Amino acid sequence: MNKALRKAVIAGNWKMNKTPAEARELLEAIKPLVKDADCDVIACVPFVDLDAALETVKGSNIAIGAENCHWEASGAYTGEISAPMLASMQVPYVIIGHSERRTYFGETDVTVNKRVRAALDNGLTVILCVGEYLEQREQGVTDEVVAMQTKIALMGVSAEELKRIIIAYEPVWAIGTGKTATAAQANEVCAMIRATVAGLYSKEDADALTIQYGGSMNAKNAEELLDQPDVDGGLIGGASLKPADFAEIVKAASR
Ligand code: 13P
Repeated sequence: MNKALRKAVIAGNWKMNKTPAEARELLEAIKPLVKDADCDVIACVPFVDLDAALETVKGSNIAIGAENCHWEASGAYTGEISAPMLASMQVPYVIIGHSERRTYFGETDVTVNKRVRAALDNGLTVILCVGEYLEQREQGVTDEVVAMQTKIALMGVSAEELKRIIIAYEPVWAIGTGKTATAAQANEVCAMIRATVAGLYSKEDADALTIQYGGSMNAKNAEELLDQPDVDGGLIGGASLKPADFAEIVKAASR
């Protein structure tokens, strides 16, 4: 089965939570709970926590990611962090295009693409977020919206570089709302994303691509979602801040 070609990836997205001291504490709590994971485990943390997080996970099976990066290497972009800055700290992963960035900070498909390019050019692996708003789902344009986001984000990305992309399908209406997409809904869109990527690259490239679901994934619903043939992992918000819950999700992905 194609799913066997891909390693499951469970990534926490801590969003704007935790000071460096709290980050250390949370990661120390998570470490022993996920040490036997048979999937990749990532914690994406606020910029100011990166140093503490990288140090805390040394020698463990947890990898660290940032939550965004700018497309320019340096310059007059107050408040932004560049991909070379992350690379200089040896941060391996970065989330790009999260719906909260798109909604609250004016991120567009084009700026997402520019950020993806910068991250890839600096050796990072990208967790690329796509997903529709509730109104778009109700209008029946989920496939069009998500396919467009995917195609624009991947402009100028080679098949070789695609190996450093993870796509996270996060329906916006399911984020932080407790409203999870059904397993069937999640799988349907993840499969559509895979077909879109197959069209842009090849079936082999698409079969090798890890596609996560994100949006109110928790200890209770993770197994059913992760059992779906095209759902290869999860991008976890709220539950990633609770060690036992996050560990349950990692366990579900390891089965
Ligand atoms: P929740 O798991 O809190 O719904 O957040 C999902 C998310 O946005 C992960 O990036």
